[in-house]
Amino acid sequence: GLSTAAALARRPPSTGAELRSAVPLPPPFRVPLPIPAVLKPTSGDRYEITQREATAEVLPGLKTPLWTYDGTFPGPTIESRRGRAITVTHHNELPVPTVVHLHGGRTPAESDGYPTDLVLPRNWSEQHTGHTMHDPRAVVTQHTRDYTFPLDQRPTMLWYHDHRMDFTAPAIWRGLAGLHIIRDDAEESLGLPAGERELPLMIADRAFAEDGSFAYPSLDPGLRVLPGVRDEYFAGVLGDVILVNGAPWPVHEVDAARYRLRVLNASNARHYELEAVTDDGRALDLVQIGADQGLLATPVTHQSVPMAPAERYDLVIDFTDIPIGSRVRVLNRLGTGRTREVMAFHITRRAEDDSRIPTTLSTDLPTWDPSDAVRVRDFTFRAGRTNGHHGWLIGGLPFDPARTDVTTRLGDVELWRLTADIHHPVHLHLVGFHVLSRAGRPPLPHDAGLKDTISLRPGETAEIITRFDAYRGRYLFHCHNAEHEDMGMMANLEVV
Ligand code: C2O
Ligand code: CU
Repeated sequence: GLSTAAALARRPPSTGAELRSAVPLPPPFRVPLPIPAVLKPTSGDRYEITQREATAEVLPGLKTPLWTYDGTFPGPTIESRRGRAITVTHHNELPVPTVVHLHGGRTPAESDGYPTDLVLPRNWSEQHTGHTMHDPRAVVTQHTRDYTFPLDQRPTMLWYHDHRMDFTAPAIWRGLAGLHIIRDDAEESLGLPAGERELPLMIADRAFAEDGSFAYPSLDPGLRVLPGVRDEYFAGVLGDVILVNGAPWPVHEVDAARYRLRVLNASNARHYELEAVTDDGRALDLVQIGADQGLLATPVTHQSVPMAPAERYDLVIDFTDIPIGSRVRVLNRLGTGRTREVMAFHITRRAEDDSRIPTTLSTDLPTWDPSDAVRVRDFTFRAGRTNGHHGWLIGGLPFDPARTDVTTRLGDVELWRLTADIHHPVHLHLVGFHVLSRAGRPPLPHDAGLKDTISLRPGETAEIITRFDAYRGRYLFHCHNAEHEDMGMMANLEVV
């Protein structure tokens, strides 16, 4: 028989309450897939983004008010080169303070978007800022802030999103998320599908209120899950509409050729298990070439890939043998009803294809041996009570900017053992890590490569190993179920 942990780990991801849209939903696979615009530098290595309110026609015929980076959801994609530093100036024209974090970036602490390093809106009255002002180390700026990213790291797809303490979930939900792709010559010389055959796909679920806005379980515009509704949404907020690059169940016309799909689960709490199915019911191979932190050493072939919030997969899919005029649907095995459907590809023409998937993808993956670890740490990720509040806790404690939870020395290799009560996607800032084991067994096929987010399964202890080798300063690790994060499941990591 199965051990209890193994049996628990097989349970589908525990989901929060699903909000029901109050408007009619469009049929699937009609809206064309949008590709977010690539942001142009203002000069050299400098970029500017204005965070502002905007409206968009997310559902056909309906206006949805959004919080945006530069007027769109997703925000503009930043394309950068490995080792070439850029500065992004963010202007906050939103009605709330914001914080920008580049997820997966090896970023100096002052630009990493610590949750109390607020960028205040114009004319912001301090009394509204609450306890986040009481962090003596917070660096608060008025209206504008420069974030500098060295990008001295392996090429991969990162994403930038809001990270304000206690308010991250509703801010991302309203639209504050965008992609960032780092490239380099080595990767470009591999011959992978490129240009129009490389597609970034940001998947996120939402629900719609009667007035067309994104529904969120709060009575206070722009604010967090309120106490009155907190119990119901404690496990996380889910929507009944699946958006890809901001469009509901879109369709994309493709050649009968190989495509590179760079997939991000940007949902607050929803887990997916993605598969690509032909009209005659055959599941196409999903050839994984990269993980959160860049290319794998060698490709791994899957029939489906599980995706927890914040995880990325770099996949190649081959439409060469698919009949012209037919479709390949991307489905979510964990969904029910409309949340089973994600998007579709419509195969429209035969075409030349000189792309390839080399058997050696990269040779620069760092590896660490457990015997290199100078420290082993244990952390539990569990619900619990503190000060009479039901919250999400790491090691029994809710987030406190004034408390240092972990101190490590620059250059140290550490082995962490992470134990979860229910599913928690655990993310470390600053570093990538390898998964060493799950429940005492070897990692799963999709744990391959360098990760920055691991999907912990219920009752399971996973071991990860990393080296804290980039910068000194105050960083974070936390659950990337955005509601769990806002309800305390975050801790401080100080590199000294
Ligand atoms: Cu995706 Cu701490 O963030
Ligand atoms: Cu969690």
